[in-house]
Amino acid sequence: MPLPSPNHRPTGPTGLFLLLLTGGLGLLTTGCQKTEYPLIEQKCGTCHSAEVVYQQRFSQQRWQQVLHGMKAVGLKVTRQEEERILEILLQHFSNR
Ligand code: HEC
Repeated sequence: MPLPSPNHRPTGPTGLFLLLLTGGLGLLTTGCQKTEYPLIEQKCGTCHSAEVVYQQRFSQQRWQQVLHGMKAVGLKVTRQEEERILEILLQHFSNR
C-alpha cells in the first residue's frame, strides 16, 4: 500500500483526505508537495511544472524579475493574484 512518507508536508488531515477522495493516489505516490500551493499550481504550473518554482530560492528582487519575465511570455494574473503569489514565493522559496 503506498503511504505518504512521514516527513511529507500535507495541508492537514482534511486536505489529505480530500486528496485521497479525489483520486489523488497518483499524486500521493509522486509527492504531496504538488498540491501544497494551489495558486502556484494553477498559475505557474501550466507552461512548465510547478516544480520549477519550488526548486528555486530567490531574493525578493529576483522573484519580481521572474514574475515580470513570466508575464512577458504570457502569464495572466490579476494584481491581487500577483501579490499573493509573491507572498508565497517570499515566504517559502526565498533565500532571504
Ligand atoms: C506563459 C507560460 C508561463 C507561465 C504561465 C509561467 N512561466 Fe515560468 N517560465 C516560462 C518559460 C518559457 C520559462 C523558460 C524561459 C526563461 O527562463 O525565461 C520559464 C522559466 C521559469 C523559471 C526559471 C527561471 C530561471 O531563471 O531559472 C522560474 C523560476 C519560473 N519560470 C517561475 C514561474 C512562476 C513563479 C510562474 C507563476 C507566477 C510562472 N513561471 C509561470 C513560461 C511560463
